[in-house]
Amino acid sequence: MKDYKRILVSAALPYANGPVHVGHLAGCYLPADIYVRYQRARKRDIVFVGGSDEHGVPITIRAMKEGISPQEIVDKYHSLIKDSFARIGISFDVYSRTSAAIHHETSADFFKKLYDDGMFEERETEQYYDEEKETFLADRYITGTCPVCQNPNAYGDQCEKCGSSLSPEQLINPKSTLSHNPPKKRKTKHWYFPLNEFEPFLKEWILEGHKEWKNNVYGQCKSWIDSGLQPRAMTRDSSWGVKVPLPDAEGKVLYVWFDAPIGYISATRELLPDTWENYWKREDTKLVHFIGKDNIVFHCIIFPAMLKAHGDYVLPDNVPANEFLNLENDKVSTSRNWAVWLHEYLNDFSGCEDVLRYYLTTIAPETKDSDFTWKGFQDANNSELVSIFGNFVNRTFVLMHKLCSGKVPPLHLEAMDDDDRNLFADIKRAKHTIEELLEQYKFRDALFEVIDLARKGNQYMQKKEPWIKAKQLTDDLAANKPGLATAEQLSARQSIDNCMHVCLQLCANLSIFINPFLPHTAKKMLHMMKVVEKMLDWENGGKEKLLSVGYSLRAPELLFRKIEDAEIAAQLEKLQQSKNGNVMPADATSEDTTPSFAPLKEEIVYDDFAKLDLRIGTIVEAVKVPKADKLLQLTVDMGFETRTIVSGIALHFSPEEIIGKQVTVVANLAPRKMRGIESNGMILMAEDAEGKLHFMKPENVVNAGATVS
Ligand code: MF3
Ligand code: ZN
Repeated sequence: MKDYKRILVSAALPYANGPVHVGHLAGCYLPADIYVRYQRARKRDIVFVGGSDEHGVPITIRAMKEGISPQEIVDKYHSLIKDSFARIGISFDVYSRTSAAIHHETSADFFKKLYDDGMFEERETEQYYDEEKETFLADRYITGTCPVCQNPNAYGDQCEKCGSSLSPEQLINPKSTLSHNPPKKRKTKHWYFPLNEFEPFLKEWILEGHKEWKNNVYGQCKSWIDSGLQPRAMTRDSSWGVKVPLPDAEGKVLYVWFDAPIGYISATRELLPDTWENYWKREDTKLVHFIGKDNIVFHCIIFPAMLKAHGDYVLPDNVPANEFLNLENDKVSTSRNWAVWLHEYLNDFSGCEDVLRYYLTTIAPETKDSDFTWKGFQDANNSELVSIFGNFVNRTFVLMHKLCSGKVPPLHLEAMDDDDRNLFADIKRAKHTIEELLEQYKFRDALFEVIDLARKGNQYMQKKEPWIKAKQLTDDLAANKPGLATAEQLSARQSIDNCMHVCLQLCANLSIFINPFLPHTAKKMLHMMKVVEKMLDWENGGKEKLLSVGYSLRAPELLFRKIEDAEIAAQLEKLQQSKNGNVMPADATSEDTTPSFAPLKEEIVYDDFAKLDLRIGTIVEAVKVPKADKLLQLTVDMGFETRTIVSGIALHFSPEEIIGKQVTVVANLAPRKMRGIESNGMILMAEDAEGKLHFMKPENVVNAGATVS
């Protein structure tokens, strides 16, 4: 392990063309924030930089569609994102943006340095151009028919139906998605970064030098490097972005993935105009990038190669990327509005910022994709935060007021027993375990340790039952045996004092340990304990005497409230509406058509639904039904048998293109004759707003005959 003097932490710059959702938070912002808060509490020299990523094609397209300028789009989302981060407590030292002047200057200079060093290769290529919209088209903005599977809606970079990687040249009948006209080829010149030349360096630096990186990160790097690196164009034809700082580069800007990571440098410069170089150019800085898995190649391969090429900069020590967070068993999709938007959560659950922080940390996709469910959210709150952590702190404070007149009671050493000593030992052990886990970016496990410690507190108090001993004393008093006359009375008093003393010191420790994860909660605890923020310094963790004897503390305030079924039902309802096709939240719409919806059919009960026998089948043959232009006769492998099904999809699909597809079949529909052919079942289709049909197929291939329920 290297001996680092300072730490620089970055969190991926979110695109400023929409709000952030819980997937972003769990994937990168929360882990980064926990890490930073922990290191700050350890008094390490640490800087946490972030900002909005405001360039790139999607933003320009969005602006074009909405008829406003790209700057207007990013202004709106930059403020929204910045504000939501602040409210949930992501404690950036600086939250900048890539449209800032300092960033344009920093990234243009960076490019210029590489250019002056002869790093780039200038290449002239032909690229597709939309003459009506007067713009070059990124591959994604060209659609056409897939040469492999004939899917008529393949993209210029990929066919989502058959998964083939494509280039726009391969598409049959390519069209611009902007004007719907066929794009024309045009000559254009770009500057290519020779990533291939950095292969030996990357092999050595990552594959040999960073075997400790997370498996998911290391594995992705290895497969990129093993498949061979190619030169990459670092410029684009566009008017939105950082202008290429060369005389012959009119209409050219830096590629968004060239300038965005330099945004980390610009943000540091903005924060520390005089000392930023200490964080970027000294070997004893530990640079850590927090990102989601879709950003791995850019942060582990391309940006480090750029930094290496530049020569002055440190390379990341680690890139602890997370996998993806799904939502209610489905991929998060911003265009389908299948997401929990952070700004909406903050409004719907005001005062519950830490509940989201808690739940997302417990389900963080650290090693594999994980699933956010509203039920899970409610359970985490009600049966962990409320019943374990909140309950312990609350009971301690209530009892201290009841049994010790609101003051920290003394610890009677002569009366200490193993339970007391064990609990103190548990606190010390927990501190070390939490440290170790946090240093290894295992945030979920570290949080479990904290909760586990609170659980131990509850068990301890339950065992000690100070209220029973107190009742004994009051009963004695009523029976005219006042004071601490007898040995039993003395021992009861000491036991109450010791229990409450230990519990209070545990509360103080819990506030230190929970602080990186749930800072709002730690603040509330500080207030109840009437202590200053300084107490949260990590070095105080594990101490047995954080609160002084005789010190009077405030009345308890509830740390967490119960989350009701109705609140969860309301959130599920909101999600369901997006499933039914409702649009994105008012301030995030990217839809340019407003679809109309079929009215809801009358309500059914479960038994009605259960009568349907739905199965997955595979189409093995398809032919046109003569003299019926809408019908196809399909042969479907149902696993247990092969069936003939007549389906009214001939206007949407040619027989060839659907062979081999998996479909959902109503398998117990009574046979019906159509054009003299007996049809045994029905194929389910989804109809989109434009009236196009889509097969309902399982996300992954399953065996024919699989049931659907
Ligand atoms: N905007 C990118 C995304 O959301 C992340 C950019 S990270 C940076 O996927 F390093 F480029 F800034
Ligand atoms: Zn295809």
